[in-house]
Amino acid sequence: MSILVTGGAGYIGSHTVVELLAAGYEVVIVDNFSNSSPEVLKRLKTITGQEPTFYEGSILDKDFMTKVFKENQIECVIHFAAFKAVGESVEKPLMYYHNNITGTIALLEVMAEAGVKNIVFSSSATVYGMNNISPLTEDLPTSATNPYGYTKVMMEQILNDVAFADSQWSVTNLRYFNPIGAHESGLIGEAPNGIPNNLMPYITQVAVGKLKELSVFGDDYDTADGTGVRDYIHVVDLAKGHVLAVKDNLETKGAKVYNLGTGTGYSVLDLVKAFEAENGVTIPYVIKPRRAGDIATCYADPSKAKKILGWQAGKNVHDMVRDSWKWQSQNPNGYQE
Ligand code: NAD
Ligand code: WQD
Repeated sequence: MSILVTGGAGYIGSHTVVELLAAGYEVVIVDNFSNSSPEVLKRLKTITGQEPTFYEGSILDKDFMTKVFKENQIECVIHFAAFKAVGESVEKPLMYYHNNITGTIALLEVMAEAGVKNIVFSSSATVYGMNNISPLTEDLPTSATNPYGYTKVMMEQILNDVAFADSQWSVTNLRYFNPIGAHESGLIGEAPNGIPNNLMPYITQVAVGKLKELSVFGDDYDTADGTGVRDYIHVVDLAKGHVLAVKDNLETKGAKVYNLGTGTGYSVLDLVKAFEAENGVTIPYVIKPRRAGDIATCYADPSKAKKILGWQAGKNVHDMVRDSWKWQSQNPNGYQE
C-alpha cells in the first residue's frame, strides 16, 4: 500500500516525502512542476537512497489520475498540489479557484471512483482571517481576505461535507502556520519563482546578494517591537506532522482539523536578528508601510495536535534560520543550475 503525495515535488511536499520514506511508507508522487523542478526528485534520491514512483501530470486531468490510482495501491492521499501566492491570487482569481478548487474536486471524484477515501489536506492558518485573537484554536470561525485564502476555506468546507455525506471518508485538514527552514542536508528547500513574497525567502535572498535590502512592512503594530508577529515552524517538523496525521487518518473516520504550529510568535525583527546572529551575515532593511491584508499577530494553539496526534514541533528558531541559510547559500538559484 502507498501514500499518494500530490504536489510532492514542492517545498512542503518534498520534505514530507523524506519523512514518509523514513517512516517506512511507500510513496507515489504526482506533480506537474508548475511550481517545482524535476531536480527535486534527484535530490530526494540522494537524501533517502530511494526512488518514489513519480507521475508528471495535473490533478485536474481525471484520466491521468485514474491511471495513477489503477497502477498503484493507494491507501491515503496527502494533497499539497495547489497555487499558493496570495498577491497572484488577487490578480488571477480564476486561475486559483480552478487549480485549487476544481483540482481538488477532480481528485476527490477520482478517489471516490477508486474507493480510496482517506485524505490529508494542506490547509493554512490563513483560514483564521483578520479577526480572531491568537493563540488560535481550531474551533474559531474561518474567513478569508483574498482568493487564495478563500480556496482554503472552501476546500475545508467541501472536504467536511464529503465526510458528512459518506461515513467511509476520513478527512484531515491541517492548518499550517508559517513554514520556513529546509532539510538539514541543504539539498531541498523553498525555491520561489521571481521575487519572494514571504519573509524568510526574502531574507535569504538578501543574504545571498540577490536582493538589496529587506522591506519591513510596518513597525507600528501593537506588538513588542511594532513589527508583525508570526508562528514560524520548521518545515521538517511540519513534514513529521504529516506522517502522524496519516496514521491518525487511517485509524479514524470523519472530518478532523489540526493546527500545525509551534505556539510561539516571533516578530519580523526577531527573525532578522536571529538570522544575523546564527549565520554571521547582515540583513540590511528599511521600514515600509504596512502590507495590505496583514494582521499584527498570528500564532497557533498547537495543543490539539499534541494531544491527539502526539505531534509537537521539536526545532527552534535557531534551527530554522540556520537551515534556511544552508539551503539558500548552497543553492543561490534554487534548483536552477
Ligand atoms: P509549492 O508550490 O512548493 O508546492 C506545490 C506543488 O504542487 C508544486 O510542486 C506544484 O508544481 C504542484 N502543483 C500545483 N498545481 C498542481 C496541479 N494542478 N497538479 C499537479 N501538481 C500541481 O507549495 P508549498 O509551499 O509546498 O505548499 C504546499 C501546500 O501547502 C499548498 O496547498 C499550500 O497552499 C499549502 N500551504 C503552504 C504554506 C506555505 O507558506 N508554504 C502555508 C500554508 C499552506
Ligand atoms: C510574515 C511577516 C509580513 C515579507 C503568508 C500567507 C499565508 C501562508 C503563509 C499559505 C508579516 C512581514 C513579509 C517582506 C515583511 N501561506 N514581511 N517583509 O503573510 O504571515 O502568511 O504565508 O497558506 O496564507 O498569507 O507570511 O512570510 O508573507 O509574512 O516585513 O518582504 O513578515 O508583513 O508580518 P504571512 P509572510
